[in-house]
Amino acid sequence: MKRNVLISVLIVLLGFVLVAGVQAAGHGHKKEMKKGILLVAFGTSIPEAQAAFENIDQKVKAAFPDIPVRWAYTSSIIRHKLAKEGKQLDSVEMALAKMLDENFTHIAVQSLHTIGGEEYHDLVKTVQAFGTIMGGFDRIILGYPLLAQEEDMLRVTDAMLQNIPKERKPKEAVVYMGHGTPHPSNAFYAAMMYHMQQKDPNIFVATVEGSPGIDEAKAFLLEKKIKTAYLIPFMAVAGDHARNDMAGPEEDSWKSILTAAGIQCKPILKGTAEYDGIVDVWVDHLQGVLNHFE
Ligand code: CO
Repeated sequence: MKRNVLISVLIVLLGFVLVAGVQAAGHGHKKEMKKGILLVAFGTSIPEAQAAFENIDQKVKAAFPDIPVRWAYTSSIIRHKLAKEGKQLDSVEMALAKMLDENFTHIAVQSLHTIGGEEYHDLVKTVQAFGTIMGGFDRIILGYPLLAQEEDMLRVTDAMLQNIPKERKPKEAVVYMGHGTPHPSNAFYAAMMYHMQQKDPNIFVATVEGSPGIDEAKAFLLEKKIKTAYLIPFMAVAGDHARNDMAGPEEDSWKSILTAAGIQCKPILKGTAEYDGIVDVWVDHLQGVLNHFE
């Protein structure tokens, strides 16, 4: 009995010490929780491509109406180009510094990248750095890019297939243009092609800067004697790569390369962020981060 009393006293004393500690850290004032969302994309300077980002912006604001939403572009080239047109876009560092200054305490940073490649991992480092600043945010957490888990690949496969133009015939191919990277996560593109072909054997995924490239895709199409191919971006926005490298008039565009091989091309200039089923995956990843703040 005496021993139980002693333990109770110790627990109460420990409680006082902990409370005193917390108060000392905050000069007796506990900061009020202020949540914020920061959406991070590579960016685009093409006004028509902007529609994709506007779609995400609307969807995120509808899903989390009480939380302020900010944007940052990682590409300094695009930010400087937009600045000359009078459009001010922040870097991740600038956006977070402003949020810190505005007394936000809990930040959900959501990557709008397709895969966790080099840009995503740069973002990981920036978020970690902001997480360790003295007097900084209470919590700052980064959400996964579009493709992070097996479930994401299945959901993205369904959403992409649902958005193929209805007039496309089964014998006609669909060739998706991913960005591609020397980073190991480039493997997601081949994995996506595998999942898509499980549902439709005439779907191909190739990349601008990684493997498989357009030459491999061309060989697949010729081997299957395909005469027509829809070319569709597998990037958040239909920006410079889609308009020039995919659908442009230059000799080395995908359209020109496949046309020269006798394959008729039908380019679709729509980014994946314009498809609701895809945006839902990003929004769910963001929800996963916000769940940590409850
Ligand atoms: Co690029």
